[in-house]
Amino acid sequence: MFVALALWRLGPEARGRHSRPACESVRNRNGSSVRNGVHLRGGATTRMLAGNESASRPPADPNELLIVGPGVLGRAVAAMWHEKYPSSRIVAESRTPASHGVLRATLPFLELRLADAATYGLDRFRRVVFCAPPSQNEDYVAAVRRAVERYWVARTPDTEAAAFVFTSSIGVYREPLTPTVLREDSPVVTDPTEPGASPSALKLLACEQVVRDAGGTVLRLAGLYTLERGPHRFWLSRGTVTGGPPDGLISLVSYHDAARAVVAALEQPGLERETLVVADAKPLSRREICEVARRHPMYAKSPMPVFTAESEAVRGGGSARPAGKRFDTSRSRAKLGQFRYDFESFEEYVQRCVEEGDDAAQAPVPLDRI
Ligand SMILES: NC(=O)c1ccc[n+]([C@@H]2O[C@H](COP(=O)([O-])OP(=O)(O)OC[C@H]3O[C@@H](n4cnc5c(N)ncnc54)[C@H](OP(=O)(O)O)[C@@H]3O)[C@@H](O)[C@H]2O)c1
Repeated sequence: MFVALALWRLGPEARGRHSRPACESVRNRNGSSVRNGVHLRGGATTRMLAGNESASRPPADPNELLIVGPGVLGRAVAAMWHEKYPSSRIVAESRTPASHGVLRATLPFLELRLADAATYGLDRFRRVVFCAPPSQNEDYVAAVRRAVERYWVARTPDTEAAAFVFTSSIGVYREPLTPTVLREDSPVVTDPTEPGASPSALKLLACEQVVRDAGGTVLRLAGLYTLERGPHRFWLSRGTVTGGPPDGLISLVSYHDAARAVVAALEQPGLERETLVVADAKPLSRREICEVARRHPMYAKSPMPVFTAESEAVRGGGSARPAGKRFDTSRSRAKLGQFRYDFESFEEYVQRCVEEGDDAAQAPVPLDRI
């Protein structure tokens, strides 16, 4: 069954902090449209759970879901899960209450709780997704370990379904020095000072190990984007591109497809201890990403940014293809149930946004709010 284009249809606040309506009118393939991006079936309620409100109990409904980190990705997962399992409880755990107003307004079926308040008597879930980023956490590995050990009911011969999905990053892969197609088992960073290593690569790798050891699943996500959020927005706003050559390739995936991949991983049996890559089929260079974004009215008036690193050609790198991370994800797609991306490239996504049109054409967003 086609999973609705939930992220497209979430309200702007739910899609990102700096959003304005864009591509809101996109409908799913069966033509149905919904209010605020979600079907509000099953008596939607929102309530805040106190840390000691609920005694620990086995989950009666295997489709109850805990989302740790209800940010842009977590909200899209919530909307998609609710659409598939409208009567199943979905609990969202955030670090602070800052997002709760928006969550109540846009995803009223969610039960909300705070990471710090939830210290004992917690419900456990058969399905958990940990999609909070490392950047906001002093001890990220401990946060992930706590979720694995205290929030999850791992699969046993008696439990019919259980999945813990951890959203890691392709930043853990070592930057290839020559044009190379990377796969799930390609070498990972061992030293944070390696070129191309994400600053949190070692932390992410440690978390991945915790998750795999417990029987969970790791999804290594490419660079995430919506129209209003992603590297294009960052670079066009700043006016400069640092960190790599203009022709260096960046692998990307829309938040929408990343959320669909999370849902697929939560549902797919046999993914215990797997490490999968979620990246669309067409990596783009830094320059191409900016050029493609500027085709949309939201960015049309932004000048091309200055690239501070030289291109391979200028440096005389001698390679036919620019460096960067390019993936063969066929194994991951197969493991996720022959997963097909709704957007095979950032270019396709922007094109769809342009075709759908929105009022951004008249009033481009100020690009200083990243
Ligand atoms: N952005 C990318 O390009 C990229 C690439 C690869 C992988 N990823 C991964 O994709 C995932 C989703 O990212 P996103 O962009 O959706 O994140 P986001 O929009 O920045 O949302 C972060 C959310 O996580 C919550 N949070 C932070 N620490 C938490 C904790 N310890 N416990 C509970 N909640 C916590 C935040 O709560 P508060 O609002 O209260 O702080 C917020 O709701 C992350 O795992 C990230 O590492 C991202």
